[in-house]
Amino acid sequence: MLLIKAGGSALTDKSIPYSFREPVVHALAGQLRRICEPLILAHGVGSFGHPPAKQYRIGLGDDATPDRRLGLAITQYWVDELAQRVIKILIDARLPALLTAADMLFVTEDRRIVDFHAEPIQRCLTMNLIPVLHGDGPLDRRQGFSVLSADQIVIYLARFFTARKVIFAMDVPGILRNGRPIPRLSFRELPTVQKEILSSQDASGGLAKKLEEIGALAGTGIDVQLVSLLEPDALLAAAHNQERGTLISDQHLCKEEPYEG
Ligand SMILES: Nc1ncnc2c1ncn2[C@@H]1O[C@H](COP(=O)(O)OP(=O)(O)OP(=O)(O)O)[C@@H](O)[C@H]1O
Ligand SMILES: [Mg+2]
Repeated sequence: MLLIKAGGSALTDKSIPYSFREPVVHALAGQLRRICEPLILAHGVGSFGHPPAKQYRIGLGDDATPDRRLGLAITQYWVDELAQRVIKILIDARLPALLTAADMLFVTEDRRIVDFHAEPIQRCLTMNLIPVLHGDGPLDRRQGFSVLSADQIVIYLARFFTARKVIFAMDVPGILRNGRPIPRLSFRELPTVQKEILSSQDASGGLAKKLEEIGALAGTGIDVQLVSLLEPDALLAAAHNQERGTLISDQHLCKEEPYEG
């Protein structure tokens, strides 16, 4: 089973609020149609979710005020609007994509998933439906409601359902170093790369946090591949285990220790 995260960075232009990249979603649909494996799709909220979440300070606690509650509802509305646009295109491509409300399936505590109602997704998968989730605002045991990223969702679901692989499709062709994707990394190398990204000029994106989430797959045998959704068929190539973007894996890396005798 595959977990696919379609980045808000690819589905929208993050610099323009509520901008939708329709051709990118058509390309996504075309690739998903050619993947013959059960899959769960989660997408980021991009320029539909970040502006209202920021405006209403969603997920920062102190959620009991009427203004904040209305802000949550407004943010949900816009994120669902993005999801509906994505799903419409998938359905037009004859993919049985089903909007799946993460805020009703997950409960968080301090923004981390602590409870999950698995049966609806499990049943979708057995019926060959494609559950589509998005970054969401679930109820949080500590702070009213929280912000739950699609990154955290896919990693959680990958572990829960023991996925074969998680693919992150973004607006960049992998984890870049000096402008080029790093072809391969082990999970052990992630903290170093994360530090590199945080200290670089472009620490604005959510990549460092994404790598932190990905780190939770260390030792599970589940591989992660990061590719560009703007590059033709890169997602499909990753699904077919072809080299593209950045592969994070601990498999086949049993290098012999250097002889020190
Ligand atoms: N070394 C790097 N390699 C690749 N991307 C980087 C690097 N450093 C910073 N970034 C930024 O990280 C961004 C990807 O993270 P971002 O969270 O914006 O995307 P996303 O997860 O697809 O979007 P969303 O969070 O809305 O789903 C890239 O667009 C890039 O600007
Ligand atoms: Mg992100």
